[in-house]
Amino acid sequence: MTPKFQRPKIGLIGSGQIGGQLALLAVQKQLGDIVLFDIAADMPKGKALDISHVLPVEGVDARISGTSDYADLKGSDVLIVTAGLPRKPGMSRDDLLDTNVKIMKSVAENVKTYCPDAFIIVISNPLDAMVYTMAKITGRPKTPVVGMAGVLDSSRFRFFVAERLGVSVADVTAFVLGGHGDDMVPVVPFCSVGGIPLTQLLSQSEIDAIANRTRQAGGEVVALLKTGSAFMSPASSAICMAESYLRDKKRVLPAAALCEGEFGLHGLHVGVPTVIGAGGVERILDVKLSSSDQAALAASAEHVRDLVLEVDKRL
Ligand code: APR
Repeated sequence: MTPKFQRPKIGLIGSGQIGGQLALLAVQKQLGDIVLFDIAADMPKGKALDISHVLPVEGVDARISGTSDYADLKGSDVLIVTAGLPRKPGMSRDDLLDTNVKIMKSVAENVKTYCPDAFIIVISNPLDAMVYTMAKITGRPKTPVVGMAGVLDSSRFRFFVAERLGVSVADVTAFVLGGHGDDMVPVVPFCSVGGIPLTQLLSQSEIDAIANRTRQAGGEVVALLKTGSAFMSPASSAICMAESYLRDKKRVLPAAALCEGEFGLHGLHVGVPTVIGAGGVERILDVKLSSSDQAALAASAEHVRDLVLEVDKRL
């Protein structure tokens, strides 16, 4: 008998540090069946088996499998891509471009063949260049390819604010826009604590210090870990986006989405406020920024444009 209902299928391309964490969180949130893919032969099968043994403890029914065959990703509703090298201490995300463009090109060609309908969330770095590579090769229209950076950068900002003020993280909202690099733009007027503008609670110099720490936070983690980069928080952020899509939650989330005029940006995937629901990136909230934030966003987008030109030379 053909089953009447099916769980959503979640494909994870890259089953390393972030990939494994993505699978665990997807199980804990009961998002659906999971396929872990990696070019490494047995490792994704090992992670799938390990995570399968979590299911009885969590009381979750799902199929978890590991593979190195792209055909097994067919029918995925959502793909989360982490294939690629992470940085080492002292490296910038942009230093990964040469290696990771080659990896993303091969991933994107296979995604185009096997998963033409999936909603794609890219995490690999340099993020903005990787989203562009995926969108260009798959030829996807506007909504189905998006980059995860803003949820994480905003979460870092929110955490530092909550820690500084001694308040619940749940009450701190923030938006960090622009590219996923040192010129990302924490939009301070959009940051509030229980609805109170942050500027009423912290001095400008304290806010600047938090903004700077947010920009450097990924590097701070890399320097402490010594091998690899942040993996729990990127996974959590991408799962937040996948959940909003699969459950049609229409969360308002900053994400690297294709701008076609929004914020004065044209033909670029840049971190902007989006609404993510069953339609993918259903909307970009093209709101007015202060002139200094708008200028900072434009400068960050110029950096993304430079990266895109570098990608084009390599494709
Ligand atoms: N196809 C599929 N997987 C690949 C490919 C490929 N062509 N090339 C490499 N991989 C896999 C590796 O085998 C590895 O298991 O990608 C995985 C990456 O995992 P990690 O090295 O553990 O890196 P991770 O910490 O998960 O970060 C992945 O996300 O945040 C970014 O900067 C980070 O670019 C990095 C990516």
